[in-house]
Amino acid sequence: MSQAYRVAILGATGAVGTELLSLLESRHFPVSELKVLASPRSAGKVIPFQGKNLLVEAVGADSFQDVDLVLASAGGSTSRTWAGKAVEAGAVVVDNSSAFRLDPAVPLIVPEINPDAAVNHCGIIANPNCTTILMAMAVWPLHQVQPVRRIVAATYQSASGAGARAMEELKVQAQAILQDSKPPTELFPYPLAFNLFPHNSSLNEQGYCEEEMKMVNETRKIFAVSDLKISATCVRVPVLRAHSETINLEFDQPFDVGQARQVLSQTPGVRLVEDWQANYFPMPLDASGRDEVLVGRIRQDLSHPCGLELWLSGDQIRKGAALNAVQIAELLVERNLLRTDTRVLAPMG
Ligand code: A2P
Repeated sequence: MSQAYRVAILGATGAVGTELLSLLESRHFPVSELKVLASPRSAGKVIPFQGKNLLVEAVGADSFQDVDLVLASAGGSTSRTWAGKAVEAGAVVVDNSSAFRLDPAVPLIVPEINPDAAVNHCGIIANPNCTTILMAMAVWPLHQVQPVRRIVAATYQSASGAGARAMEELKVQAQAILQDSKPPTELFPYPLAFNLFPHNSSLNEQGYCEEEMKMVNETRKIFAVSDLKISATCVRVPVLRAHSETINLEFDQPFDVGQARQVLSQTPGVRLVEDWQANYFPMPLDASGRDEVLVGRIRQDLSHPCGLELWLSGDQIRKGAALNAVQIAELLVERNLLRTDTRVLAPMG
C-alpha cells in the first residue's frame, strides 16, 4: 500500500464511526487526509486521529469533493441521501447501512468469503448486517466442506447494535432500576436492563422482523445461494457490546463434529473457544474488542442425523461493522479498485 487516500467517515461520532477511526489508525490504512462527518448536532466537536485533532463537520453538498473513500455508518436514510452524491463526486463508498445491501448492482462483501464480488462495483459496496456477518463467518467454512441446506438461528443482540446512545441508555436504565426508579426508554421501546425483547424492527406479513429477514436475504446474497433455507429469531438482550448467536445447521450427510472443529480452528477471523471441562464457551464479554468471531459448543444435533449445533459471540462493532468495512477498504486498495478511472461508474438509484 504505497499510495495514500483521502478518506471521509460519515457518522464519525457514533459507535461504529469511533471504531472506524481507531481501526484506520491501528491497521495503518494509508490515509493522506481524513474528514470526520456527522449531523449538524456534532459540528465543531473535536476527534483525535494520528496525533491531530480533527474538527467534525456537518455533512453537506461539498463534503465529498476530493475524497477517494467514504466509510459511511450514519443510518440508512443518511446513506440514501449522500452515498450517490459521494459517488458522483468521485469517491467509493463502503456503506454500513442497509440502504443498498440487496441492490443487485451493489456488492455485499465479507472479505473472508466473497472478496471477488468487489471487482464490479459501481461506486458503492455494502457492509452486511452485523448478525449476518457473524453467522456467515462461522457457517461459510463448513459450507465449503459440505453445502449447508438449512440454517436455524437465534440471536442474543447487545445494545451496541442500536448505537452509542443505546449503550448509554442501557447503562442509565440499569442504574435507575438499581435505585428503584423507573428506567427511561428513549431509543429502546421497552426497558432492556434486566429484560430482553424480540428485535423491534418492523414485522412482515409472515411475522419475521427486518433484522431476521436481513439474516435470510443477506446470507443468501453473500453465499450466492438464492434459495438457502434460513429461519432466524432475533432478540435484544441487556449486554452492552458483542452479539451472540445459536446456530443449527442441516446438511445432506452427517457432518463430523471433529472435522467441524478442525475446520473452524483453522479459519482466519474465527477463534475456536471450547473448554468442555470448565464449561467455558464464547461469551460477549470475551468477544468485546476482539477481531475474531468466537465459536464453540459445536455438537451433533440430537434431533437430526445430519445436523450440527454451534454457538458464537462476536463484537458487533468490530467484525460485525467497522472491522469488516475497513477490511473491504483494504481489499479495494489491494485490488486497485479505489481509483475512479479503473471502475465502471453507473448512476445510483
Ligand atoms: P451525530 O452524533 O451528530 O448524531 P450511532 O449508530 O452510534 O447512533 O451513530 C450514528 C452516527 O450517525 C453518528 O455519528 C451521528 O451523528 C450520525 N448521524 C445520524 N444522523 C445523521 C444525519 N442526518 N446526517 C449525518 N450524520 C448523521
